[in-house]
Amino acid sequence: MYINFWYPVCLSEELKEEPLKVTILGLDFVAFRDSNGEAHCLSDICVHRGGSLSGGLCHTEDNTIACPYHGWRFDKTGKCIRIPSLGLKGKIPPRAKVDSYPVTEKYDIIFAFLGDLPEEERSPLYEIEEYGKDGWRANKTVTLDLNYNYERSIENALDPAHNEFIHPTHGFEGSKNDYQVNPSKITETAWGANFEQLFDAPPLDQEIYGETAREESGELTVYGGYHGPNVVITQIHTKKETNWFHQYFFEQPINQFQTKVFFVNMRNWIMEEKWDEMVMERNLIIAGEDITVMTDLRPQITPDTMTKEVLVPADLIMGQYRKTMKSWESKGYKIDSETLDKNKHKMAFSIPCPARKQEKNWVLDSIPLINGK
Ligand code: FES
Ligand SMILES: [Fe+2]
Repeated sequence: MYINFWYPVCLSEELKEEPLKVTILGLDFVAFRDSNGEAHCLSDICVHRGGSLSGGLCHTEDNTIACPYHGWRFDKTGKCIRIPSLGLKGKIPPRAKVDSYPVTEKYDIIFAFLGDLPEEERSPLYEIEEYGKDGWRANKTVTLDLNYNYERSIENALDPAHNEFIHPTHGFEGSKNDYQVNPSKITETAWGANFEQLFDAPPLDQEIYGETAREESGELTVYGGYHGPNVVITQIHTKKETNWFHQYFFEQPINQFQTKVFFVNMRNWIMEEKWDEMVMERNLIIAGEDITVMTDLRPQITPDTMTKEVLVPADLIMGQYRKTMKSWESKGYKIDSETLDKNKHKMAFSIPCPARKQEKNWVLDSIPLINGK
């Protein structure tokens, strides 16, 4: 798992008047809204004596969140602005502050940048160009809970060879003698890579797909890729210019073994609302086919070296993804999960926020990083 990227925190509709506790990258965060409805995200651990801020209350009169244990109030920047036990004139110690992260709300999702990079060095949040544009319709953003590692999940979404076998509606289930995966065209991007992949597409079952079913076998092209460690893109283009599905998966690694996927589905046909349910139902059936197989992959975390698996040309894009991840490891963004696990009962950790680059006096230890400075 890596710091210094944008991670989905929760759906916009999940964050109301109450603070919300969210676990991401194995640590706890609290999300809350101020009196203007603006969302904020802080480290959840109170620096007084370890209370969980998300168990406290949001105060709209001073836009703070109060710890449930002794009522210390923290503002959106993470600074403590009131310590009730000191009385109204009490001086707040400069160390009374928690990490606060940049937040943005888009695609009906609240995202936080979990890391300490200054704004100009941050990876951008993935931009869905057609979102909100004429000619495109988005399904309501939904989440999926996975009991497996997010990198395994991203690799599965990139994998061109599994469709034939996992998804009966997408392939010929290995029954076509001349089946083979077409070569992938891969291009590197600033924060990941894109691929272009031609698929043979079988006719679709009228019973499931009704009037949207493809009657003849055909071809379709998938333009996909990954952006950062946790966003995967699948744009399915049939030859017709109007029968396209674009799918965007923003993945939240809860920890190394659990993932919450925030799924944005766009389409440029069957535009009426009445089709939303069928489209999502179909997507969830397909996701369920992946989940059944993915839950049992071993080891649970992608092996550290390529020699522990037998990779073939259809695995090229996964190799590219692993290479990109290694480049972030060498920059010192990778969490040292073993050290974290070993110390988690006697130490409270936090992902360093951007203010740590400017100010000293932080109470919680910064999360251990591989090659970290
Ligand atoms: S532990 Fe939070 S106010 Fe005391
Ligand atoms: Fe799949």
